[in-house]
Amino acid sequence: MKKLIKNGIIVTASDTYKADLLIENGVISGIGTNLSPADAEVVDAKGCYVLPGGIDPHTHLDMPFGGTVTKDDFETGTIAAAFGGTTSIIDFCLTNKGEPLKTAIETWHKKSNGKAVIDYGFHLMIGEINENVLNELPQVIEEEGITSFKVFMAYKNVFQADDETLFRTLLAAKDLGALVMVHAENGDVIDFLTKRALAEGKTEPIYHALTRPPEVEGEATGRAAQLAGLADSQLYVVHVSCAEAVEKISEARAKGFDIWGETCPQYLVLDESYLEKPDFEGAKYVWSPPLREKWNQDVLWNALKTGQLQTLGSDQCSFDFQGQKDLGKDDFTKIPNGGPIIEDRLSILFSEGVSKGRIDLHQFVDITSTRIAKLFGLYPQKGTIAVGADADIVIFDPLIERTLSAKTHHMAVDYNAFEGMKVTGEPVSVLVRGEFVIRDKKFVGNLGSGKYLKRAKYKQYTCKNQNETVSIQPS
Ligand code: URP
Ligand code: ZN
Ligand code: ZN
Ligand code: ZN
Repeated sequence: MKKLIKNGIIVTASDTYKADLLIENGVISGIGTNLSPADAEVVDAKGCYVLPGGIDPHTHLDMPFGGTVTKDDFETGTIAAAFGGTTSIIDFCLTNKGEPLKTAIETWHKKSNGKAVIDYGFHLMIGEINENVLNELPQVIEEEGITSFKVFMAYKNVFQADDETLFRTLLAAKDLGALVMVHAENGDVIDFLTKRALAEGKTEPIYHALTRPPEVEGEATGRAAQLAGLADSQLYVVHVSCAEAVEKISEARAKGFDIWGETCPQYLVLDESYLEKPDFEGAKYVWSPPLREKWNQDVLWNALKTGQLQTLGSDQCSFDFQGQKDLGKDDFTKIPNGGPIIEDRLSILFSEGVSKGRIDLHQFVDITSTRIAKLFGLYPQKGTIAVGADADIVIFDPLIERTLSAKTHHMAVDYNAFEGMKVTGEPVSVLVRGEFVIRDKKFVGNLGSGKYLKRAKYKQYTCKNQNETVSIQPS
């Protein structure tokens, strides 16, 4: 059935205007001031913004990590994402050395198929480069529509790849039209610092942060940037946490390198002191890279404001405090890294960013949706409100005040990293391809209704309207 969203204020990355939105067959079919089709269900968005659905470029659902598996899977994770105004995610598909890439991708399809309630795509981890991998990559792009590769520069003896692997991945990505993503921390130095700390009897959560200082992130970010420049390729640095890394990205961009940076809500509002909470509670705040000294938050906000960082990912990677985080009770290196963020990404950026005047409303849409769609081959099908685009819509009330809490969140974990934080603004209703998934703050979706997204190559935007492929250089 057609839907007509009336009385809302449409906000995109570039415009704000009052108009009605007509939805037919899952796409936006009309935008106008006096639309009144006879057979449409009318949805009243009075007092609300009508935003393009959020796109989360960084999730780890149902992922084995740190001797356990992330608690939220494609069911609970995507339901929580939808409550938070996210209508598409791109999850990291892990690979194993010596195993065909196809096997890993099939594993990820099995995890997500029949469960996801919002649309989803995959990034592919590259842990080694050899003839088999190079032979398989074209299929990964053409058949699976996976057009972004992830290289870990940290997690020694687990995920970490060497510089040759990173460099050859950058070269291959350039040829094939993919974007290379890096987890930028110097894994070798961290490995030494952690072993030394443990030998000195330093086992508490705070040593997680003290053994991964900002210099190791800055160094790896600068190294990755230089290699991307040398390869004349394209690079996206995930979860930027500190001034040292922002500086390296800014320098590289100033030289004209094709480099992009993402930060996450936790780095914008939490700081290193959280790791010192008593009774092992600091374990809830163990991320890699770690939370930083508070002054870094101003640097990150400023980087988002000035465009030195362009996107916000959640890095959703959730573990229960009881039974998972406590694996590291006597040894901080055994605390599973990561936290539950998928639900609160938009609300935190809106409340702390827009409501407090650090960024404007259009930047908010760009950072959480439009830019991500452009970088990861989803634009203009996703990431904007335009005729012909998928009707992925968030009806967002900017004035609601509420408190983030594990008591009310929809993630499957036993704590909320932002417990007690007051935020302004909330997604009231959320539609994916024209169907309500959240309606008046209630889940009304269907498991398995989320569609797998085959994504276009880097900077190849497909205009569905005219059924033609156009290449646009995003600014
Ligand atoms: O601590 C984190 N970030 N956990 C998720 C895995 C990763 O490195 O992104
Ligand atoms: Zn319908
Ligand atoms: Zn990472
Ligand atoms: Zn991550």
